[in-house]
Amino acid sequence: MALLPILTAPDPRLKKKSKPVDAVDDALRRLMDDMLETMYAAPGIGLAAPQVGVLKRLVVLDIDREEVKTGPLFLVNPEIVEASDEDATYEEGCLSVPEHYSDVARPAKVRVRYLDRDGKQQEMACEGLLATCVQHEIDHLDGILFIDHISALKRNMILRKLLKARKEKEREAAEGKPVAKAKESVPAL
Ligand code: NI
Repeated sequence: MALLPILTAPDPRLKKKSKPVDAVDDALRRLMDDMLETMYAAPGIGLAAPQVGVLKRLVVLDIDREEVKTGPLFLVNPEIVEASDEDATYEEGCLSVPEHYSDVARPAKVRVRYLDRDGKQQEMACEGLLATCVQHEIDHLDGILFIDHISALKRNMILRKLLKARKEKEREAAEGKPVAKAKESVPAL
């Protein structure tokens, strides 16, 4: 298995629509395993293929909270087939928007249809953090980031800060300084 580099905003690849997967084969399973390892190492609880520069409709996630423990999940071509009228608001973070967090309102409950690691069709009822995570990751497949759900003013401020932080990191790396790890507070999706 291998760790993959995670793209951060503003990267044009994060704004693209991903293509459906046509076969769940060994090559795809290798990619899923690498994505899962990359997600654990980050650390995060969800990761979509475009975040590692692969424009395929593929998501991995693993939520380990008191209220919901999923274990590793692989969602190929995930689709929301049902969503509640009622919304829930969660403070979201994203591995592609490091160290920025914002409240986002989404349907509180959704039903997702997907192909699993063996290419078998599955359906899963989601609520709480799992519902948020699944919707956040499917957004990634459509080129949408959580900051696209907040005000343009706040979004642009975050994007400016991300660019500044990226330049700073490049400068520090050029000077041979060790890379500081992001602190873990809100789970990154
Ligand atoms: Ni994300």
